[in-house]
Amino acid sequence: MLNAYQTKRLMAVAGLVFFAYLLLHMLANLNFLTGADNFNGFYRWFNEAVILRWSIITLLILSILLHTITAIARQFDVNSKRHIPYKKSYPKAIPRLIAWSGAGLLFAFIVGHFVQMQLLETRDFYAEISTIFNNPIMLALYALGFASLSAHLHHALGNVGQTFGLSHKQHHGLVLLIIFILIGGFAAVPISIYL
Ligand code: HEM
Repeated sequence: MLNAYQTKRLMAVAGLVFFAYLLLHMLANLNFLTGADNFNGFYRWFNEAVILRWSIITLLILSILLHTITAIARQFDVNSKRHIPYKKSYPKAIPRLIAWSGAGLLFAFIVGHFVQMQLLETRDFYAEISTIFNNPIMLALYALGFASLSAHLHHALGNVGQTFGLSHKQHHGLVLLIIFILIGGFAAVPISIYL
């Protein structure tokens, strides 16, 4: 059986795998700003690299399941583990209902986005993505997804250093910068459509 510290590390590692994918995904999406040929060219290559693509998708599904199941298990266990000496206790800082609602919203966004992307019929992703963001409801749902991702990362990246032995204050500015770059990069796609 893993102890509370080991499960926290496991959760952090699984979260960091997904986070690494998000950085690459955001960078790949910036191709959108350079026009349809580049964007479609990248995704055509990615979809033809079947083994690479499905290895990444499998890794993402495993990491998100591990992260979520560990988080839920830790929550069930939390009452008997209150003595764990974290410098900052997140349940006191953020009410649990809000934290879990935010995490649930992010999970729903990721599943919804994944399914939506798999259902796109044509291989002209540029046109498909433009159509999606021209729909105000979709735009609002993605804005909600970006907001829940920002909030989740703010909490998670703030605490991940702590899990691996760094102080929260040491890297708070860095955390904000990372979130700004990541979310700004994702948001650049819909923003470019409206400019
Ligand atoms: C403007 C923002 C975004 C755009 C334009 C976008 C676009 C795409 C596209 C075109 C795909 C399909 C890839 C394929 O089938 O080959 C995809 C897949 C995916 N996206 Fe996004 N995405 C955005 C934001 C996000 C965010 C914020 C997350 C997570 C929080 C995310 C997670 C994923 C995942 C998990 C997949 C499935 C893996 C894959 O097929 O590569 N995306 N996205």
